[in-house]
Amino acid sequence: MTTKNAIFKTDDGSHSIYSNRFNESYHSQHGAIQESMHIFIESAFNLFIKNEITVFEVGFGTGLNAILTYIEAKKLNKFVTYETIELYPIIESEFKNLNFSAELKIDKSIFEKIHRSDSSIELSPTFKLKKNITDFTNYQFQNKYDLIYFDAFSPNTQPEMWTREIFQKIYNSMNVGGILITYVSKGEIRRRLIDIGFNVEKLAGPPGKRHILRAVK
Ligand SMILES: C[S@@+](CC[C@H](N)C(=O)[O-])C[C@H]1O[C@@H](n2cnc3c(N)ncnc32)[C@H](O)[C@@H]1O
Repeated sequence: MTTKNAIFKTDDGSHSIYSNRFNESYHSQHGAIQESMHIFIESAFNLFIKNEITVFEVGFGTGLNAILTYIEAKKLNKFVTYETIELYPIIESEFKNLNFSAELKIDKSIFEKIHRSDSSIELSPTFKLKKNITDFTNYQFQNKYDLIYFDAFSPNTQPEMWTREIFQKIYNSMNVGGILITYVSKGEIRRRLIDIGFNVEKLAGPPGKRHILRAVK
């Protein structure tokens, strides 16, 4: 089986990647930037009133959620500690060809910096990034988080990422009032989150996706 990824253009003009390892794309065809903005930024990050926010992202992938959070945090004057995990980082020839910097009108070097780092860096005095290049299924959290971007491949493709045990360990690592946001709205996942103790809301999804889930501890 080949594990080569393919870059493609989505409907809002931004790129995404199709993973041949998982036979699934990192974002929907309807628009990568539009989708990530709707789910992760507008339905979760922007809800925090406090000035310091700790984020943990499951599945760093193209780095789109990270760069969007960096841009939004700068705009809102927030201090962000952004931790993420990725088992299969994309390679230089892939991240260099993604058009996010041009689409978002930011300096290309910032986007490349978040990909080149393989541990901790300060992207700016107000944005710290920590990458864990390891397997999330047996990862033990060291810190507590306000916000979880749960952006694994779908439950059909990677059921091992969506188990009760995984959500329980996430719940235990979250601050009270913290938010877990995910693009999946399947009843089975929603019930799993409720069962663990989250308050779960079904929200309108981005174009092409009827619902998403926001779970509050
Ligand atoms: C839907 S994509 C993430 C998209 C990403 N958030 C973005 O903004 O581009 C899911 C990611 O999870 C990663 N992944 C798959 N299995 C993993 C595992 N066991 N541990 C950590 N990351 C994993 C994949 O390599 C992929 O990058």
